[in-house]
Amino acid sequence: MERVQAGHAPMLGKRVELGPPRDGRFKGKHILSVNQFSREDLEYVFSVAEEMRTAVELVGTFDLLKGKVLACLFYSPSTRTSSSFIAAVERLGGSAIPINEVKYSSVSKGESLPDTVRTLAAYADLIVLRHPETGAAATAARYSGKPIINAGDGQGEHPTQALLDLFTIRHERGHVDGLTITLLGDLKYGRTVHSLARLLTKHDVKVRMVSPETLRLPRDVLEEVRSRGLMVTEHASLEEVLPDTDVLYVTRVQKEYFDDQAAYDAVQGSYVITADTMRRARKDMVLMHPLPRVGEIAMEVDDDPRAAYFRQVQYGLYVRMALIAMVMGRA
Ligand code: CP
Repeated sequence: MERVQAGHAPMLGKRVELGPPRDGRFKGKHILSVNQFSREDLEYVFSVAEEMRTAVELVGTFDLLKGKVLACLFYSPSTRTSSSFIAAVERLGGSAIPINEVKYSSVSKGESLPDTVRTLAAYADLIVLRHPETGAAATAARYSGKPIINAGDGQGEHPTQALLDLFTIRHERGHVDGLTITLLGDLKYGRTVHSLARLLTKHDVKVRMVSPETLRLPRDVLEEVRSRGLMVTEHASLEEVLPDTDVLYVTRVQKEYFDDQAAYDAVQGSYVITADTMRRARKDMVLMHPLPRVGEIAMEVDDDPRAAYFRQVQYGLYVRMALIAMVMGRA
């Protein structure tokens, strides 16, 4: 059906159904942690993301956020998160201020994070922030007159990644409840895992954590998710959990957080998913990775239909479009 309800988007001559009017619960809100999202909120986010997917497939770009400006402020490297947020706002008809390398901004002259976000808040309607320090997004939120979306803060959280991860699982498996989900690799420093584990507490799932001894999930995060009822077991070997795994979520070892090369070399390459691994996995297992990968999944696996990591990238566009529209009060 092609029609528009009140407040929804005319799209390049077509009129596209974007669902019923919403309650604006995220309008003007910062998005700093997945802990902000109830199960009902998740349903809402994903329903809007579905509508974004339909709209993009139908018309590509539309004018829901015409005139709105997003500042994309990245203090540390990114390919997917920065470019998908820019693509998302542009597909919504808005525009972006991309600051992908702060060394070319006044940060290199010593400008503080509070002053930088206060400045960008004067120009933009929304600020997406990646920063190497845990808690930086919360700090920015205290100083910004405009909503902040946390695009990864040090070893803390990466909430939009976890939301797109969950959206991917729903799409690939049709549901989340009842699944056995294995998180593999660097669970200590990998913020995507910290956010995803927290988000999974909202679901009835079994979680297997597989990592080298030195890269186990931080104890405080483990206690937090267990106290919320998440069934978690920890393992050193993938082999013991692979046969029961419905979703295998692989992460890279986060080299940037290691003090010395020897310590990194000792754990890098601990787990590599190959075609042989996939032969021993369930026929309907979903293989995910937040990317970038640096050898944890062999390229020979890419053509396996269970390899979902590039579809995961695509789902991220729709989820980030949904989040931007919601925070702007236009979802
Ligand atoms: N998954 C993710 O955050 O990728 P980027 O570092 O490329 O943004």
